[in-house]
Amino acid sequence: MTTPKTEHIAICPGSFDPITEGHMDVIRRASQMFGRVFVAVSDDSEKEPMFSLAERVAMAREACQDLSNVEVDSFEGLVVDYARQRGAVALIKGLRAVSDFEREMQMAWMNRQLAPELYTVFLVPHPDYVFLSSSLVKEVASRGGEVSQFVPDAVYTRLQDKVGGSH
Ligand code: PNS
Repeated sequence: MTTPKTEHIAICPGSFDPITEGHMDVIRRASQMFGRVFVAVSDDSEKEPMFSLAERVAMAREACQDLSNVEVDSFEGLVVDYARQRGAVALIKGLRAVSDFEREMQMAWMNRQLAPELYTVFLVPHPDYVFLSSSLVKEVASRGGEVSQFVPDAVYTRLQDKVGGSH
């Protein structure tokens, strides 16, 4: 499937600290399913991200620049409020291993309570990325491990700058 069948709008929310190839796989697929996709970077003050909100947005923007129906944005507050404001019909989440399941179900349940008209759609990431997470990427990169195959170029450069490695 290469051309979206609908004009429907979908939101891909997340912390994206930083965006990975696993996220990109889900975003690419969402962009083929929906007319317009907003990658919504959460400004969650409870988490202590490695990258600032502006950096996370910039990296995601660079990574998504070739996807013509994808825009990168940030949001504060509830994701359902952001989705309503954008006129979205769906929240897209990547569901990786069983370990994601409980938390994702809790969020899907709560979001449905808050906004019954909004659908949570789970997409399965490519098998190459099924155990990939931003946390693992940061942990490996900060200890000098090679992570270039797991992140878009825009992230790789900034990650090296952040952890003090050589390019
Ligand atoms: O990449 P993450 O950290 O798994 O993304 C989690 C995110 C940002 C999607 C989630 O924390 C979220 O939706 N935050 C916004 C606040 C909100 O709406 N909370 C209630 C969701 S049940």
